Amino acid sequence: MTEPKIIVLNDADELYVRAAEEIAHIAGESICTHGEFTLCLSGGSTPAATYDLLATRFHLSVDWKELQCFWGDERCVPPDDPESNFAMANRTILSRLALKPAQIHRIRGEDDPPEAAREYEQMLRDHFNLGQGEFPRFDLVMLGLGDNSHTASLFPGDPAVHETSRMAVAVQVDAEPPRRITLTPPVINNAQRVMFLVAGQSKAPAVKDVLEGPRDVDKYPAQIIAPENGELIWLLDRAAASLLSKPSLLSK
Ligand code: 6PG
Repeated sequence: MTEPKIIVLNDADELYVRAAEEIAHIAGESICTHGEFTLCLSGGSTPAATYDLLATRFHLSVDWKELQCFWGDERCVPPDDPESNFAMANRTILSRLALKPAQIHRIRGEDDPPEAAREYEQMLRDHFNLGQGEFPRFDLVMLGLGDNSHTASLFPGDPAVHETSRMAVAVQVDAEPPRRITLTPPVINNAQRVMFLVAGQSKAPAVKDVLEGPRDVDKYPAQIIAPENGELIWLLDRAAASLLSKPSLLSK
């Protein structure tokens, strides 16, 4: 894997705009290259502003009819639950793009978690036409970072961090809601691009631990993210990057 590209923006607003610009650029490149844009969305709250920008200011920048939308993880709640990652994406972007239902590949958080994980794996096999032991190659996987260095729903101490064969697993995490489905590291690390989007002072210690701390994926699960044959981008605002010692590319 090549070194991560670390881009630091002045503030959160500039970060969200830069993320939307990057996504629009990757979408165009992907559609030109292979006729669709396979995007794996992250959950939580950070990406909401970028999703909103993509649906408004950047609406005409992407040929949305070629979007195929997936999730990196989902909470085990119904799709209209305020805690649902699908619900957040649907509110901020998907419901504003006039997509066909077949373009949206959500994780069924309302189902029995192990069953939902198996269903999602089958959906990935079908869409990416995967053979035995093959993993999907997303054009872009978006990720957030928890203040305990988790990403997707790969939490400290969870065996899922070391999963090498399953594509999606059900996990029990130390956060609300506790039951989740998450993509596994081999899927994320098979992506063409992985983009972390991290904002705020509260994330600065985790950013420092993951990027400059000792290698310990059980303690800092986000360290497991290292695309074998893809690009890793960290988009940070100045606050989230404030504890980094190495100079990074301060984007103008
Ligand atoms: C989730 C996310 C999770 C999130 C981080 C950061 O389902 O919550 O997948 O990995 O990206 O917890 O969350 P915030 O953006 O809300 O800080």
